Amino acid sequence: MFLFKLGQSVLMQMDPERAHQLTIKALKSGALPIPKASISSRLAVTLPKSGLQLASPVGLAAGFDKNADVPNAMAKFGFGFLECGTVTPKAQDGNPKPRLFRLKEDRAVINRMGFNNAGLGAFVANLKVYRGSAPIGANVGANKTTEDKAEDYETGIKIVYPYADYITINISSPNTPGLRGLQDKASLSDLLQRCEAAHGTAKIENPTLADRPVFLKLAPDLDTHAVDDIVAVVGNEGSWLAGLIVSNTTLERPDSLISDAKAEAGGLSGTPLMALSTQVLGQFAERLEGRFDLIGAGGIGSAEDAYAKLKAGAHAVQLYSMLVYEGIDLVSRINDGLVELMDRDGVANLQALVDGEA
Ligand code: FNR
Repeated sequence: MFLFKLGQSVLMQMDPERAHQLTIKALKSGALPIPKASISSRLAVTLPKSGLQLASPVGLAAGFDKNADVPNAMAKFGFGFLECGTVTPKAQDGNPKPRLFRLKEDRAVINRMGFNNAGLGAFVANLKVYRGSAPIGANVGANKTTEDKAEDYETGIKIVYPYADYITINISSPNTPGLRGLQDKASLSDLLQRCEAAHGTAKIENPTLADRPVFLKLAPDLDTHAVDDIVAVVGNEGSWLAGLIVSNTTLERPDSLISDAKAEAGGLSGTPLMALSTQVLGQFAERLEGRFDLIGAGGIGSAEDAYAKLKAGAHAVQLYSMLVYEGIDLVSRINDGLVELMDRDGVANLQALVDGEA
């Protein structure tokens, strides 16, 4: 891992987006020797509704590998699942640069990338050559210029269906105008009905494939009324969904922030998102009473953080931003740390923890 530590300190001196591009390029080249991380068998978990079988509850969040360029490499670092995307039907450039900012003092990131990606064609071509054993998710979104946003989700679901182990409907990026409006009651109800139909069609067109579970990814910027509304709609028009991912980045700027870049527009992630996203996760867990799988994301930088989300009701977790500050071996440290925390609490295995038996 020394090579990675060295690489990381060099990357931290560079423009953040350039550093990210270089990382993807290096991982894609296959030139880096990546030893396969070992994962304790006590971390294995099967998510109750989706049936997804994970070797570890710790997954890679969307946005790191937008075009599914490097899942084969990322699978070796100890992730239990990988989510690629967000992918939109057509390729698009995203917002003007700079659009990615480190808030070093706050251990946070602000991004306003705006779904820069190479489009569905390139995405599925890449998914076809994935050979890892960790389930791979395809996170789908809408192009900036599409008026009928739901149509882009229908397209995305149908196209990725044969090549992904699960699908995420991302309606919570703050960087595509109008996208978060899809979380409102009437829009969400319409979107879920149309996505259910698209998912049903894809299922019929791929009769030999296992059913692909679908998750809905939400923002953390929801008051209790909005949470109640979403729970109601998901209970009605969304009963076909496997679960929710809580959460995406926040538009909030907590008073605690001290870095100059806090004034940048975009979604905030990393440490300052941990408390807020876990609180909203807990609200969904309480109201959904185990009827849906819950994946917790937002600010995870340690085993304690991951454990806190699992205790708050998550069946699995995802992370991205803290890889920037902690390096890629954070994943193994979290896996190992989870086992220590389970030992401390007398929990035999992670399945018992998420089943509420611990
Ligand atoms: C993201 N995130 C994200 N989410 C998503 O659903 N689609 C996307 O394309 C992106 N893109 C993206 C880019 C960058 C640079 C960041 C930092 C984040 C959100 C991400 O998946 C996650 O939900 C949040 O960042 C919260 O988790 P972390 O980063 O605090 O662990």
